[in-house]
Amino acid sequence: MATKANGKVKELEGEVYYPSEEVVAQARLQDWEAVAEKARKDLEGFWADEANELEWFKKWDKVLDDSNKPFFKWFTGGRVNIVHNCIDRHLNSYRKNKLALIWESEDGKLERTFSYHALNREVNRMANIIKAMGVMKGDRVTIYMGRVPEIVFAMLACAKIGAVHSVVFGGFSVDSLQGRIEDSESKLVITMDGSYNNGKVVELKRTVDEALKRCPSVENVIVVKRVGHDVPMEAGRDHWYHDMLALPIANGKCPTEVLDAEDPLYILYTSGSTGKPKAIVHTHGGYMVGTYSTLKYVFDINDEDRWWCAADPGWVTGHSYIVYGPLLNGATSFMFEGGPMFPYPNRWWQCVEKYGITILYTAPTAIRGLMRFGEAWPNKHDLSSLRLLGSVGEPINPEAWKWYYRVIGKERCPIMDTWWQTETGMFMITPTPSVPLKPGSGTRPFFGQEAEIVDEQGNPVADDQEGYLVLKNPWPAMLRTIYGDPDRYVNQYWSKNPGKYTTGDSAKRDSDGYFWIIGRVDDVIKVSGHRLGTAEVESALVSHPAVAEAAAIGLHHEVKGQGIHTFVLLRNGFAPSPELAEELRQHVATHMGPIARPEDVKFVDKLPKTRSGKIMRRVLKARAQGLPEGDISTLEE
Ligand code: WT7
Repeated sequence: MATKANGKVKELEGEVYYPSEEVVAQARLQDWEAVAEKARKDLEGFWADEANELEWFKKWDKVLDDSNKPFFKWFTGGRVNIVHNCIDRHLNSYRKNKLALIWESEDGKLERTFSYHALNREVNRMANIIKAMGVMKGDRVTIYMGRVPEIVFAMLACAKIGAVHSVVFGGFSVDSLQGRIEDSESKLVITMDGSYNNGKVVELKRTVDEALKRCPSVENVIVVKRVGHDVPMEAGRDHWYHDMLALPIANGKCPTEVLDAEDPLYILYTSGSTGKPKAIVHTHGGYMVGTYSTLKYVFDINDEDRWWCAADPGWVTGHSYIVYGPLLNGATSFMFEGGPMFPYPNRWWQCVEKYGITILYTAPTAIRGLMRFGEAWPNKHDLSSLRLLGSVGEPINPEAWKWYYRVIGKERCPIMDTWWQTETGMFMITPTPSVPLKPGSGTRPFFGQEAEIVDEQGNPVADDQEGYLVLKNPWPAMLRTIYGDPDRYVNQYWSKNPGKYTTGDSAKRDSDGYFWIIGRVDDVIKVSGHRLGTAEVESALVSHPAVAEAAAIGLHHEVKGQGIHTFVLLRNGFAPSPELAEELRQHVATHMGPIARPEDVKFVDKLPKTRSGKIMRRVLKARAQGLPEGDISTLEE
């Protein structure tokens, strides 16, 4: 990549990294403007062309049905199944014996690979087992697993038979799991005896047992053996997966259910401004087209690529870009069980070298964490297979961007900084490889999208002014609703700025039309790119007998982006002490999961509240940062 425009490209303001001639020559899409223009003029035509690259049992009657806004529908009348396009269609081509999935264990001792043929067989076997447990089209299945190939089989097996998967991140703990199983009324839970995290075992099955004490809907639990720990198995309810695989029902043939384009594919819980996490609903048809198309254009996936999305399948990034997007594109996807630092901070670079990874997609928090260990670790390894890099989850600070660009990409690999959300299902603000980059900006909206920065009243603000980020057009992978709570869907996303989608982020647009995300404007804290709600942390704290009231805020953290800081009002009879503070931090970790462990617990006599009793986290945050408290006219006496 060059830092000067090559004459054909317009000169941009600020610090710009122009793509090299070599990158442009390689890119599938050299004329970004032409495609953007086509999509601007004919949104439905653009998406119909994308959808036509995939196979449908029956084509749609209408691309976009906006007759009942904001309950948009896509490809209505179309008959499809995302699994047909992820797997089945490749079996009739040269891709049948191409690797779909490569997996390596945390300790590097195990390596498992699956061709499209083999993946099909595994998915069919799992689908037959799930069916035999009485799971039918539309039923919800909770998947609570670590990063092993079986989590991919489980998701695809559900989709194949029309069941709706609800993956709960394996780093969450009992309260988070229980709430999500209960809300989704899952009949079946698929889990593991345990998973590995930095050499230690995470006791997934024991957490499931704890959660199921309060989840009457669950009839069966499938347990994949990974760590070999002794776990209690409840007769009639719990089944070892390897035992089920030995049964005649677990054969490799299972028809792919013919579904409606708008049939739900999955729900995925995410934190919002208030209350409990909400279940975002994604569908077979639109989500399929959106994830296929974005991965194709943005990461320029080709048959020769070895794609590595280093997220966890438990988050939307893993859903869209470990599982669905790569398989829809017939790509080879690499999945690594462990993290970047264990046992040494060269673990990822070993994998890049060993498997010849060509595209690496990760989060700023991982980059910042690795940066601290210096350049010697990556420099020990041959990273020359890499041709593109990606970033997601939070704004990437220019310092981390440049380190990633120079030390990992050797100044050859453009960085695709992709802004999107659980709700959007697919990349929304993102470059493609031929687009000039500015470190820290996701550049411009993807084809067919227009973004805008508005003020409190919903009026567009001037360039370089901070405001609220909204999206103006519907897109195929958009969430359809919040499961079980359509009113909340309308209120949360569509009422503040009528006719536009409210993202919950603040941002700026510069004079080149490039967007710069600043952060969340609601009570969502981004810890290492993971989205956590202040409300969840607070209710975990209040569930401790010593706590009367609690408030949680996010403050800047060197590596994590944001860390959780809490303020606690004790009940009568309890006294503040460092031991109690530690106990409360642990309490949150035990109930929600280690990622939610607060950085600190401060004991207070009073929390700033509005006269109607709402905690003013904004005031706590300003005080903690030594900033002015802003408008406090609603603060109670
Ligand atoms: C929020 C959504 C979608 C994948 C992972 C997160 C922040 C996401 C970026 C980026 C700046 C980003 C936003 C957004 N975010 N990607 N490239 N640059 N901020 O999904 O957990 O639903 O969180 O993550 O604040 O609203 P999520």
